[in-house]
Amino acid sequence: MKRFVGKVVVITGGAQGIGWTASLGFAREGAFVAIWDYDQAKGEEAQRALVEEGLEGWFQRVNVADQAQVDAAASALQQRCGRVDVLINNAGITRDASLKKMTVAQWQQVIDVNLTGVFLCTQALTNFMGQGGRVINTSSVVGLYGNYGQTNYVATKAGVIGMTKVWARELGRKGITVNAVAPGFIATEMI
Ligand SMILES: NC(=O)c1ccc[n+]([C@@H]2O[C@H](COP(=O)([O-])OP(=O)(O)OC[C@H]3O[C@@H](n4cnc5c(N)ncnc54)[C@H](O)[C@@H]3O)[C@@H](O)[C@H]2O)c1
Repeated sequence: MKRFVGKVVVITGGAQGIGWTASLGFAREGAFVAIWDYDQAKGEEAQRALVEEGLEGWFQRVNVADQAQVDAAASALQQRCGRVDVLINNAGITRDASLKKMTVAQWQQVIDVNLTGVFLCTQALTNFMGQGGRVINTSSVVGLYGNYGQTNYVATKAGVIGMTKVWARELGRKGITVNAVAPGFIATEMI
Protein backbone atom coordinates (compact mmCIF):
# COMPACT_ATOMS: atom_id res chain seq x y z
CA MET A 1 0.00 0.00 0.00
CA LYS A 2 1.21 3.51 -0.88
CA ARG A 3 2.05 5.62 2.17
CA PHE A 4 1.51 9.20 0.95
CA VAL A 5 -1.67 9.10 -1.12
CA GLY A 6 -3.40 12.50 -0.97
CA LYS A 7 -0.43 14.23 0.68
CA VAL A 8 1.07 17.43 -0.70
CA VAL A 9 4.87 17.43 -0.36
CA VAL A 10 7.18 20.36 -1.17
CA ILE A 11 10.82 19.50 -1.84
CA THR A 12 13.21 22.43 -2.31
CA GLY A 13 16.11 21.68 -4.62
CA GLY A 14 14.00 18.75 -5.77
CA ALA A 15 15.21 18.71 -9.37
CA GLN A 16 18.50 16.89 -8.84
CA GLY A 17 20.60 14.88 -6.41
CA ILE A 18 19.13 13.93 -3.04
CA GLY A 19 16.10 16.16 -3.65
CA TRP A 20 15.22 14.45 -6.92
CA THR A 21 15.54 10.99 -5.35
CA ALA A 22 13.22 12.16 -2.57
CA SER A 23 10.78 13.65 -5.10
CA LEU A 24 10.59 10.39 -6.99
CA GLY A 25 10.25 8.38 -3.79
CA PHE A 26 7.38 10.47 -2.43
CA ALA A 27 5.60 10.54 -5.81
CA ARG A 28 5.89 6.76 -6.12
CA GLU A 29 4.27 6.53 -2.68
CA GLY A 30 1.28 8.49 -4.01
CA ALA A 31 2.13 12.06 -2.96
CA PHE A 32 1.57 15.20 -5.03
CA VAL A 33 5.13 16.54 -5.17
CA ALA A 34 5.87 20.24 -5.68
CA ILE A 35 9.46 20.57 -6.83
CA TRP A 36 10.82 23.99 -5.85
CA ASP A 37 14.06 24.56 -7.70
CA TYR A 38 15.76 27.51 -9.41
CA ASP A 39 17.08 25.41 -12.32
CA GLN A 40 14.41 25.75 -15.00
CA ALA A 41 15.74 23.03 -17.34
CA LYS A 42 16.29 20.42 -14.62
CA GLY A 43 12.96 21.28 -13.00
CA GLU A 44 11.05 20.77 -16.22
CA GLU A 45 12.91 17.53 -16.86
CA ALA A 46 12.03 16.31 -13.36
CA GLN A 47 8.35 17.15 -13.81
CA ARG A 48 8.33 15.38 -17.19
CA ALA A 49 9.92 12.28 -15.67
CA LEU A 50 7.23 12.14 -12.95
CA VAL A 51 4.36 12.67 -15.38
CA GLU A 52 5.72 10.06 -17.81
CA GLU A 53 5.63 7.55 -14.96
CA GLY A 54 2.00 8.47 -14.30
CA LEU A 55 2.92 10.27 -11.05
CA GLU A 56 1.78 13.62 -9.71
CA GLY A 57 4.35 16.39 -9.76
CA TRP A 58 4.56 20.12 -10.34
CA PHE A 59 7.76 22.07 -10.96
CA GLN A 60 7.65 25.59 -9.59
CA ARG A 61 10.66 27.76 -10.39
CA VAL A 62 11.69 29.23 -7.06
CA ASN A 63 14.86 30.75 -5.72
CA VAL A 64 14.47 29.85 -2.05
CA ALA A 65 16.56 32.87 -1.05
CA ASP A 66 14.07 35.30 -2.60
CA GLN A 67 11.14 36.08 -0.31
CA ALA A 68 8.83 37.35 -3.08
CA GLN A 69 9.36 34.16 -5.12
CA VAL A 70 8.84 31.92 -2.10
CA ASP A 71 5.63 33.68 -1.06
CA ALA A 72 4.25 33.63 -4.62
CA ALA A 73 5.00 29.92 -5.02
CA ALA A 74 3.43 29.12 -1.63
CA SER A 75 0.24 31.00 -2.59
CA ALA A 76 0.06 29.30 -5.99
CA LEU A 77 0.45 25.90 -4.37
CA GLN A 78 -2.18 26.69 -1.76
CA GLN A 79 -4.55 27.72 -4.55
CA ARG A 80 -3.89 24.54 -6.50
CA CYS A 81 -3.86 22.00 -3.67
CA GLY A 82 -5.58 23.70 -0.74
CA ARG A 83 -2.89 22.73 1.77
CA VAL A 84 0.64 21.48 2.38
CA ASP A 85 1.48 18.38 4.42
CA VAL A 86 5.26 18.02 4.19
CA LEU A 87 8.11 20.46 3.55
CA ILE A 88 11.59 19.12 2.89
CA ASN A 89 14.12 21.95 3.04
CA ASN A 90 16.75 20.32 0.85
CA ALA A 91 18.09 23.08 -1.45
CA GLY A 92 21.69 23.86 -0.61
CA ILE A 93 24.93 25.09 -2.15
CA THR A 94 28.63 25.15 -1.34
CA ARG A 95 31.20 27.90 -2.01
CA ASP A 96 34.25 26.39 -0.32
CA ALA A 97 37.41 28.26 0.67
CA SER A 98 39.68 28.34 3.69
CA LEU A 99 38.98 31.00 6.32
CA LYS A 100 41.92 33.01 5.00
CA LYS A 101 40.65 33.01 1.41
CA MET A 102 36.86 33.06 1.77
CA THR A 103 35.28 36.22 0.35
CA VAL A 104 32.27 37.94 1.87
CA ALA A 105 30.40 37.13 -1.36
CA GLN A 106 31.08 33.39 -0.90
CA TRP A 107 30.02 33.64 2.74
CA GLN A 108 26.81 35.51 1.89
CA GLN A 109 25.70 33.29 -1.04
CA VAL A 110 25.75 30.19 1.15
CA ILE A 111 24.02 31.95 4.06
CA ASP A 112 21.31 33.25 1.70
CA VAL A 113 20.41 29.84 0.24
CA ASN A 114 21.14 27.38 3.05
CA LEU A 115 19.95 29.44 6.01
CA THR A 116 17.69 32.28 4.83
CA GLY A 117 16.11 29.96 2.25
CA VAL A 118 15.17 27.44 4.93
CA PHE A 119 13.75 30.23 7.09
CA LEU A 120 11.69 31.74 4.24
CA CYS A 121 10.25 28.45 2.97
CA THR A 122 9.33 27.25 6.44
CA GLN A 123 7.74 30.56 7.38
CA ALA A 124 5.69 30.67 4.17
CA LEU A 125 4.57 27.05 4.00
CA THR A 126 3.82 26.27 7.63
CA ASN A 127 1.03 28.87 7.31
CA PHE A 128 -0.73 26.31 5.14
CA MET A 129 -0.02 23.28 7.35
CA GLY A 130 -2.40 21.90 9.90
CA GLN A 131 -2.19 19.15 12.52
CA GLY A 132 0.11 16.38 11.30
CA GLY A 133 2.28 18.69 9.19
CA ARG A 134 5.94 17.78 8.83
CA VAL A 135 9.07 19.86 8.21
CA ILE A 136 12.36 18.09 7.47
CA ASN A 137 15.48 20.23 7.34
CA THR A 138 18.64 19.05 5.64
CA SER A 139 21.72 19.58 7.77
CA SER A 140 24.94 17.60 7.29
CA VAL A 141 27.50 15.66 9.29
CA VAL A 142 29.80 18.64 8.80
CA GLY A 143 27.29 20.75 10.74
CA LEU A 144 28.05 18.48 13.68
CA TYR A 145 31.80 17.95 13.25
CA GLY A 146 33.08 20.85 11.11
CA ASN A 147 35.09 20.53 7.90
CA TYR A 148 38.17 22.18 6.43
CA GLY A 149 37.34 24.96 3.95
CA GLN A 150 33.64 25.18 4.80
CA THR A 151 33.20 28.02 7.30
CA ASN A 152 30.12 29.28 5.45
CA TYR A 153 28.52 25.90 4.75
CA VAL A 154 29.17 24.52 8.24
CA ALA A 155 27.72 27.68 9.82
CA THR A 156 24.51 27.10 7.87
CA LYS A 157 24.28 23.38 8.58
CA ALA A 158 24.85 23.93 12.31
CA GLY A 159 22.35 26.81 12.14
CA VAL A 160 19.74 24.56 10.57
CA ILE A 161 19.96 22.26 13.59
CA GLY A 162 19.37 25.23 15.89
CA MET A 163 16.40 26.46 13.86
CA THR A 164 14.96 22.95 13.88
CA LYS A 165 15.02 22.90 17.69
CA VAL A 166 13.27 26.28 17.87
CA TRP A 167 10.58 25.32 15.36
CA ALA A 168 10.00 21.93 17.03
CA ARG A 169 9.00 23.92 20.12
CA GLU A 170 7.05 26.65 18.34
CA LEU A 171 5.25 24.54 15.74
CA GLY A 172 4.87 21.42 17.87
CA ARG A 173 2.08 23.27 19.66
CA LYS A 174 0.17 23.33 16.36
CA GLY A 175 0.75 19.62 15.74
CA ILE A 176 3.56 20.20 13.21
CA THR A 177 6.64 18.05 13.72
CA VAL A 178 10.04 19.49 12.79
CA ASN A 179 13.17 17.37 12.37
CA ALA A 180 16.59 17.62 10.78
CA VAL A 181 18.61 15.00 8.95
CA ALA A 182 22.41 15.09 8.81
CA PRO A 183 23.58 13.01 5.85
CA GLY A 184 27.17 11.90 5.35
CA PHE A 185 28.80 12.24 1.94
CA ILE A 186 26.55 11.20 -0.92
CA ALA A 187 27.76 11.11 -4.54
CA THR A 188 25.82 13.97 -6.16
CA GLU A 189 26.90 16.88 -8.37
CA MET A 190 27.43 18.94 -5.20
CA ILE A 191 30.54 16.95 -4.24
N1 LIG B 1 25.76 15.34 -1.24
C1 LIG B 1 26.19 15.24 0.00
O1 LIG B 1 27.19 14.57 0.29
C2 LIG B 1 25.45 15.93 1.12
C3 LIG B 1 25.81 15.61 2.45
C4 LIG B 1 25.14 16.22 3.49
C5 LIG B 1 24.14 17.15 3.22
N2 LIG B 1 23.83 17.45 1.93
C6 LIG B 1 22.78 18.43 1.71
O2 LIG B 1 21.73 17.81 0.99
C7 LIG B 1 21.07 18.80 0.19
C8 LIG B 1 21.04 18.33 -1.25
O3 LIG B 1 22.37 18.14 -1.69
P1 LIG B 1 22.74 17.46 -3.10
O4 LIG B 1 24.06 16.81 -2.91
O5 LIG B 1 21.59 16.68 -3.61
O6 LIG B 1 22.98 18.80 -3.98
P2 LIG B 1 22.83 19.05 -5.56
O7 LIG B 1 23.75 20.19 -5.86
O8 LIG B 1 22.97 17.79 -6.33
O9 LIG B 1 21.31 19.56 -5.68
C9 LIG B 1 20.89 20.75 -5.09
C10 LIG B 1 19.62 21.20 -5.76
O10 LIG B 1 19.23 22.45 -5.13
C11 LIG B 1 18.91 23.39 -6.13
N3 LIG B 1 19.16 24.74 -5.60
C12 LIG B 1 20.34 25.29 -5.27
N4 LIG B 1 20.16 26.55 -4.87
C13 LIG B 1 18.83 26.81 -4.95
C14 LIG B 1 18.03 27.95 -4.67
N5 LIG B 1 18.57 29.11 -4.27
N6 LIG B 1 16.69 27.85 -4.85
C15 LIG B 1 16.14 26.69 -5.28
N7 LIG B 1 16.84 25.60 -5.57
C16 LIG B 1 18.18 25.65 -5.41
C17 LIG B 1 19.81 23.04 -7.31
O11 LIG B 1 19.33 23.56 -8.55
C18 LIG B 1 19.77 21.50 -7.27
O12 LIG B 1 18.67 20.99 -7.98
C19 LIG B 1 21.84 20.11 0.40
O13 LIG B 1 21.20 20.88 1.39
C20 LIG B 1 23.18 19.64 0.90
O14 LIG B 1 23.83 20.62 1.66
C21 LIG B 1 24.45 16.86 0.88
